[in-house]
Amino acid sequence: MASVVLVGSQWGDEGKGKVVDRYAERADWVVRYQGGNNAGHTLVVDGDKTVLHLVPSGILHPNVKCAIGNGVVVDAQILEDELGMLADKGVITEGRLFVSYGAHLILPYHKRLDLAREALRGVDKIGTTGRGIGPAYEDKIARRGVRVADLADRDRVDGLVRQRLKELNAILAVHNAPDHRPFTEAEIVEIVDRHVELGQRLRPYFSNVADRLFRGVEAGERILFEGAQGVLLDIDHGTYPYVTSSNTVSSNAATGTGLGFHHLTSVIGVMKAYTTRVGRGPFPTELSDETGEVLRKAGNEFGATTGRPRRCGWLDLVALRYAVRVAGIRQLVVTKLDVLGGLPELPVCVAYELDGRRMTEYPDNVHDLHRVKPVYEKMPGFEEIGAVRRFEDLPAAARDYLRFIADALGVTIALVSVGPGRGEDLELVDPFA
Ligand code: GDP
Ligand code: IMO
Ligand code: MG
Repeated sequence: MASVVLVGSQWGDEGKGKVVDRYAERADWVVRYQGGNNAGHTLVVDGDKTVLHLVPSGILHPNVKCAIGNGVVVDAQILEDELGMLADKGVITEGRLFVSYGAHLILPYHKRLDLAREALRGVDKIGTTGRGIGPAYEDKIARRGVRVADLADRDRVDGLVRQRLKELNAILAVHNAPDHRPFTEAEIVEIVDRHVELGQRLRPYFSNVADRLFRGVEAGERILFEGAQGVLLDIDHGTYPYVTSSNTVSSNAATGTGLGFHHLTSVIGVMKAYTTRVGRGPFPTELSDETGEVLRKAGNEFGATTGRPRRCGWLDLVALRYAVRVAGIRQLVVTKLDVLGGLPELPVCVAYELDGRRMTEYPDNVHDLHRVKPVYEKMPGFEEIGAVRRFEDLPAAARDYLRFIADALGVTIALVSVGPGRGEDLELVDPFA
């Protein structure tokens, strides 16, 4: 099997980082293909926690190569800081991390615009991570972005930034807030100088990623594509407009790296044993009561990027069935099953009710998601399972919970995660076999 695409199956933060770290030793490459430092992927190895926003989650395995594909939006300052953080931990990145010349840059004005727009939207805000993701992808699609390849030429960067700010400064002037003001001449020079310098320092990492990956595949190397965010945050298939600005689904692993779709041989979805969401947007199984608080506390549900408390709710099989379909998921990894340990009963959403009508498929019209009522089937709870390492050692109720999910979704469960640390899981099927 040449390559596996790993995607989040809900609204992000499913534990993708931990699972990528788990599987990385079976791969030659771990590759990000979309999103940017809106992602926060947490790895815990021997009690030491590492949160990665841009560098792929295979980096802690010394023999694994990592790549950031053309589909990722790169904040060069964040990349340099993250490489520094890894160096402090003794992780060697040079010669192992390759960043595509075609990746678009997130520049300071993208961030300022992201924050200004959110402020302007007021109660209708998206709840973005404020990292400039949307405005950077806008510039890419509008053919006015600055790419990694441009950094080698100061005049080019200067020209592109000035051209862009002619219009953006006018827009920022409309926002007219102290934090969101237009950029001064001194700031423009600083942006250009700093990025040209960052480009020089990061130059050893810049590469023709598509070509490297293609040659790798030809030589029989195995690629693990690391999705960021989750299917329900996909710009086309998610809960628009409460989504991110990239395609998070598996097919974008081809476009976002420059490989052909036939190089994507299987898709693993990572799902939490319950549901969480950061930012705004519809969430039918959300628990706004004490039980939601219990899940947030037990699962330590606070954003790895922004520290915001995550909204928590029961498992939603209607949403998951949809995610499985649009992302082509065949195998699932269930994470954080341990968090449910000790709860007396576990309601699982098996259908929605809309205007008295029961539906088991995701609504065609996303606006209906605000009005649907979840229909629950109650599963018995189980005790603490954090120390379990074999499926057969799980309590019967936990096994039933997993079988119920697999049957409802028509997928195989490949791995069950029962703790944040490396090795705290039980494997059922090897997705690379
Ligand atoms: P990602 O964005 O999908 O990589 O997920 P995050 O890292 O943002 O959030 C997942 C959180 O859950 C992190 O704090 C992980 O350390 C933690 N985590 C991952 N798997 C498990 C698990 O099976 N059990 C528990 N209790 N925590 C987990
Ligand atoms: P990982 O990879 C959870 C959410 C934001 C907001 C929406 C748009 O760690 O799972 P953006 O800054 O992308 O324009 O914000 O998307 N969001 C995430 N939620 N996990 C993520 O990444 C996210 N990345 C973006 O909270 O609702
Ligand atoms: Mg995260």
